[in-house]
Amino acid sequence: MDRIRLVGGNELRGEIPISGAKNAALPLMIASLLSAEPLVLNNVPRLADVKQLERILENHGVDIAVHGRRRGEDEGVGQRMTFHAADIVDTTAPYDLVSKMRASFWVIGPLLARCHEARVSLPGGCAIGTRPVDLFLYGLKALGAEIDIDDGYVVAKAPKGGLVGTTISFPKVSVGATHTILMAATLARGTTVLENAAQEPEITNVAECLVAMGAKISGIGTRTLTIEGVEKLHGATVDVIPDRIETGTFAMAAAMTGGDVLLKGARPEHLQSALDILAQTGVELTPEAGGLRVRRNGNGIRPVDVETEPFPGFPTDLQAQFMALMTMSNGVSQIRETIFENRYMHVAELARFGADIAVNGQVATITGKPQLRGAQVMATDLRASVSLVIAGLAARGETVVNRIYHLDRGFERLEDKLSRCGAEIERVAG
Ligand code: EPU
Repeated sequence: MDRIRLVGGNELRGEIPISGAKNAALPLMIASLLSAEPLVLNNVPRLADVKQLERILENHGVDIAVHGRRRGEDEGVGQRMTFHAADIVDTTAPYDLVSKMRASFWVIGPLLARCHEARVSLPGGCAIGTRPVDLFLYGLKALGAEIDIDDGYVVAKAPKGGLVGTTISFPKVSVGATHTILMAATLARGTTVLENAAQEPEITNVAECLVAMGAKISGIGTRTLTIEGVEKLHGATVDVIPDRIETGTFAMAAAMTGGDVLLKGARPEHLQSALDILAQTGVELTPEAGGLRVRRNGNGIRPVDVETEPFPGFPTDLQAQFMALMTMSNGVSQIRETIFENRYMHVAELARFGADIAVNGQVATITGKPQLRGAQVMATDLRASVSLVIAGLAARGETVVNRIYHLDRGFERLEDKLSRCGAEIERVAG
């Protein structure tokens, strides 16, 4: 297995292009199942999770094409891809494909809406928590689906004539359940109202894509989405939004090492709560026409308390990276993780750098230290892995991050982007 080797201590200086958002690209790709016409997506990141979802969509009968580079385009630009689901040949999403990536469960919404049936493997638990699917099943049943669990599969059938719109009030905010029920409702008969819907920018990206495909949706970007079902959706061309988690991750890396970095293409409004917190730590953040500039010149890192929340709150996907930053603050800070029950696996690994972190239930108390020391570390999920990379960038001496396939699931050209800004970082083939 590949590893990343880095030597900490260099400031980050330069420009980092922000890639298309993984968590927008995945549901946008899934939305292609709703129409017999092609969906063209611009700025799809080159990631292992995208590849994995391609396999799943291909199994349902989707033709996928990657367009070549266009005149005047940078080589680093995201892929332009076409997803054409002219004929759905299989409405089963098998265990061996779904178990590798939880978001693939979301195909159940479009398959059920368009083909009136779906058989999708339960995704199972994952490293960061149990992650049940009760909210998905609650929403699909409300749209009239009959649901059975058979041999580890969710078997869903729509009533005769298809799904039927209704009002659904989610008891808890869920990104995946919102994507799935929103997609399903576009082809349901009548009106669906989704209350307590997730409002993440990725939901907005998908809702706007569905509108471009002919769906009728109002309330986009708010807690309540209203969908008037239509008979068919058509093709469209849609841009994947820039990745706000990648943006926040590099902002925290620069905050930790010091320096001056322009995050090209970043959309600050997509991570305002995280930027507000970063500003309180003493980082200078300046939105510019081309993106977001992050600077920290010499001053210490102030401790700030954080609680993770659904958007527009502080994202759970930046919690590990923020914890890495707080390990070098000049005081004591607390993080409360409220979204996932087991998202502190990076704590034991950060301790290898000499960090002082105590966990009590949902709350981590971090006592900052002036200097971390490089270490051999390993992570068990994507965001935890990258928190170890940014800790290593600021630590004294050499760090080796093992098991980096997690990073390849969600960060495009990570070593390349960082080394162009002065980091001493390389991938070592395993
Ligand atoms: N939940 C339920 N029942 C359900 C669905 C969710 O109890 O039926 C719970 C979950 O267990 C969790 C909470 O609701 O405690 C929120 O989970 P949500 O459904 O919002 O998460 P998700 O859709 O599975 C997406 C992102 C995650 C991100 C979360 C929260 C994608 C592909 N994944 O997951 O991203 O952490 O929203 O913002 O969009 C990552 O990229 O590293 C990642 C884990």
